[in-house]
Amino acid sequence: MRVLIFGAGGQLGRDLLRVFQADYTVIALTHAQANIVEGEAVRLAVRDARPDLVLNAAAYTDVEKAEDDERGAFHTNANGSQRIAEAAAAIEVPVVYFSTDFVFDGTKRDAYTPEDKTSPKSVYAKSKLRGEENTLWNNPQSFVIRTAWLYGPGGNNFVEKILKAAASRPSLRVVSDEIGSPTYTRDLAAATHALVKTRKYGIYHGVNAGTCSRYEFAQAIVKEAGLETPIEPCLASEFPMKAARPAYSVLSNEKLETASGIVMPEWRDALARYMKQRENAA
Ligand SMILES: NC(=O)c1ccc[n+]([C@@H]2O[C@H](COP(=O)([O-])OP(=O)(O)OC[C@H]3O[C@@H](n4cnc5c(N)ncnc54)[C@H](OP(=O)(O)O)[C@@H]3O)[C@@H](O)[C@H]2O)c1
Repeated sequence: MRVLIFGAGGQLGRDLLRVFQADYTVIALTHAQANIVEGEAVRLAVRDARPDLVLNAAAYTDVEKAEDDERGAFHTNANGSQRIAEAAAAIEVPVVYFSTDFVFDGTKRDAYTPEDKTSPKSVYAKSKLRGEENTLWNNPQSFVIRTAWLYGPGGNNFVEKILKAAASRPSLRVVSDEIGSPTYTRDLAAATHALVKTRKYGIYHGVNAGTCSRYEFAQAIVKEAGLETPIEPCLASEFPMKAARPAYSVLSNEKLETASGIVMPEWRDALARYMKQRENAA
C-alpha cells in the first residue's frame, strides 16, 4: 500500500510519516515540494505517487495572522484542501483531512461530539470548517479528523513555548479559563493509521484522553522537565488576542474509539512520552 502525505514537514506530518512507514510505502511532500494551493502541482503529485491513500496534513495554522489574511487562510485551508480531495477522488482513493476544535464556539460544558453544531469564531476556524466541507463534498471516501492543542516534533507548540519561557523567566502566568485536551501528534498519527483501515468514512474527533486548563498543562510540562519555575494562573482576558478562541473545547473520542478499536492514551502519559522523545532527539 502507498500513502501520499501533503504537509509532511509540519509537526503532524512528521509523525504521520513515522507511523505509516511501518507498513506503507510513504511519499511525503513538504510545503516546498508541493504547494497545495496550486491545483496542477497537487494533481501531478497524486498522479506520480499513485497512492492508495492521501493524508492532508498541510494547513495555514497561524491563527492570529489569519485574522489579517483571510484570503491566505482560505486559499490553503479551504481551496487547497479541495484540490487534494478532488485529486484523490479522481483516482478513487480515500483522503484524510485534519481539522480543529476551533470549529466550535466553546459554549458547551461537556465533550463535543462530531455531530454537534459548529460555530467557528475566527478566520482560521472558518477556513478550516470550509476545508472540511470541501473535502467531504468532493470525495465520497473522506475522513475528517478534528483534533486540538497539538504538539509534536519540530513544532513551535505550547509545550516548546512553555519550556523556553520557564527556562528564561523567573515565573510564568498562564491562563486557567481555557479548557481542552492536549494531543501528541504521535498518538493522533497512530489513531489515524487505525481508522483509515476501517473504511468507515465521516467526521471524527481525535485527542488525547482527559482534560485540563492551559495552566494545568503548563504545570505538567514544567514538572516533567524537572524545572521549578513558579506558575500563576490568570484569565484569558488578561492576554487579549485578535482571534477568538473557544474557552471550552473538549472533544469526545467515542466515535473514533468505537470505529477503530483503539483507546486514546491519557494526555499526561502522552506528554511524558513526548518529553522522552525530545530528550532522545537532542
Ligand atoms: N497545532 C494545533 O494546535 C492544531 C490544533 C487543532 C488542529 N490542528 C490541525 O492539525 C493539522 C496539522 O497541524 P500541525 O500542528 O502539524 O501544523 P504545522 O506544524 O503548522 O504544519 C502544517 C504544515 O503545512 C504546511 N503548509 C502550509 N501551507 C501550505 C501549502 N499551501 N501547501 C503545502 N503545505 C503547506 C506548513 O509548511 P510551512 O511551515 O512551510 O508553511 C507546515 O509544514 C492542521 O490541519 C491543523 O489545522 C492543529
